[in-house]
Amino acid sequence: MQNLTWLLKKINILWVRGQLPSRLPTPFQKIDNLIIFLICILISIISSFKLLDFKPLNPEIVFSWSVTFLEILFCCISLIYISKKENPTINARQIILILGLLLIAQGIKLNFSTFSPLSIIVPPALIISQGMGTLTALTWVSIACINWPGSVNLVSNNLLLITFISACIVSILGGKIRGRAQLLQISILVPFGALISQWIILFANDKNYRYYNIPNLLISPGDIFSDFILLAILMLVTILIMPILESIFGLLTKARLLELADQEKPLLRKLSVEAPGTFEHTLLICGLAEEATRMIGGDVDLIRTGALYHDIGKLHAPNWFIENQTGSTNPHDKLDNPILSAEILQDHVDKGLNLARKYRLPKPLASFIPEHQGTLKMGYFLHKAKEKNSAVSESIFRYKGPIPQSKETAILMLADGCEAALRAMKIDATDHEAITTISKIIKSRENDGQLSESNLSKAEIFLIKKSFLNVWKRIRHRRIQYPTSKNNTFS
Ligand SMILES: [Fe+2]
Ligand SMILES: [Fe+2]
Repeated sequence: MQNLTWLLKKINILWVRGQLPSRLPTPFQKIDNLIIFLICILISIISSFKLLDFKPLNPEIVFSWSVTFLEILFCCISLIYISKKENPTINARQIILILGLLLIAQGIKLNFSTFSPLSIIVPPALIISQGMGTLTALTWVSIACINWPGSVNLVSNNLLLITFISACIVSILGGKIRGRAQLLQISILVPFGALISQWIILFANDKNYRYYNIPNLLISPGDIFSDFILLAILMLVTILIMPILESIFGLLTKARLLELADQEKPLLRKLSVEAPGTFEHTLLICGLAEEATRMIGGDVDLIRTGALYHDIGKLHAPNWFIENQTGSTNPHDKLDNPILSAEILQDHVDKGLNLARKYRLPKPLASFIPEHQGTLKMGYFLHKAKEKNSAVSESIFRYKGPIPQSKETAILMLADGCEAALRAMKIDATDHEAITTISKIIKSRENDGQLSESNLSKAEIFLIKKSFLNVWKRIRHRRIQYPTSKNNTFS
């Protein structure tokens, strides 16, 4: 019994570690690479071995098998490459999920040759588009439709075309859907659309197609009503198991993002009660970051939720941060130790990552915690330390990073820097003064190399500045000016 408890604890630790955002983008472990490679080989074998079924074997057959084998292997590698491009933070488990679904699809096609292709390809397309994005889902669908095993001869080209179009629609819509209700609509409308298409294209051209064959629901390609029922059931099952898949594979769907952005979530409630200043700062940053992300066409839902959680680490010691100080004493003055003060500031990143682990925040969200500070200098404390000892190392007064790895985390860093400065501006400040302040802060981040890995272009940085100015103009008239410290570099 004790051993079992120990094993369960060990599994839980491994699971929680899997959710932890890495400080630097880490390559897959060797064992993960090996598993992924073996799955690719398995998919290639399953999809091509029927070609060797001819006796006697001759060089022509072996050559044809080799070409198909390599072609499918190449498709699998392309799928991995595209999914990594679309999701830079994708982990090995998610790659295994994509390949696993392809393996299952190929296996079913081969061994259950009468299974409707609609039911084999469309539900996985929904899972992949929701979890990994439209591009990855479209690539998966293309590979699954192209690599149709030779043994399947009951599937007409028209049915495959309907399947391909339906799966593409699901892939495109699935990547955009923002709620479970819309998912439910898709799970009815797509099968219904497939039913009408089959009726128009297949039934009208070939009277051998039947409307339904309920006793053989699972093996009924061409029984158009049976296909409809089966697809609708599988789509609904997919929606039901989606939260389980999100949890097991760490998928970050739009629906989950919106759920996490609910301000009644325990962690956000705790922040609003125990660190109201930080919570207010967070809401203002949300406004700035959302507008800028919308302007450059980034992921607004991701940045909104990421912004809400970016400073949760301040919960460990709220009154050490300027926005939570009521204007009386500043504990940093009492401490009078710039190195310790710098450690307390760095701690809001480390403690934030601990909380992200504890509350199981998905990796792309948790990466906002270290990346919004990047390797920025804690200028105020460095200056204080230099006054005491001019030889003090600058590296002690820099956050540990990593610097922003995506456009979204870079925008959050810029919004974080500009928010305090814009908040501190006089109510009668001009637009010119505001844009000068914004430009100065962004330029200093750029010159410090903080944006070098974020992929933000010059044009996008220009748009970000403009959108920050627009937000500032919007909130200026209702802004309450409150005292700010000269050392407002605490944020
Ligand atoms: Fe911060
Ligand atoms: Fe912040």
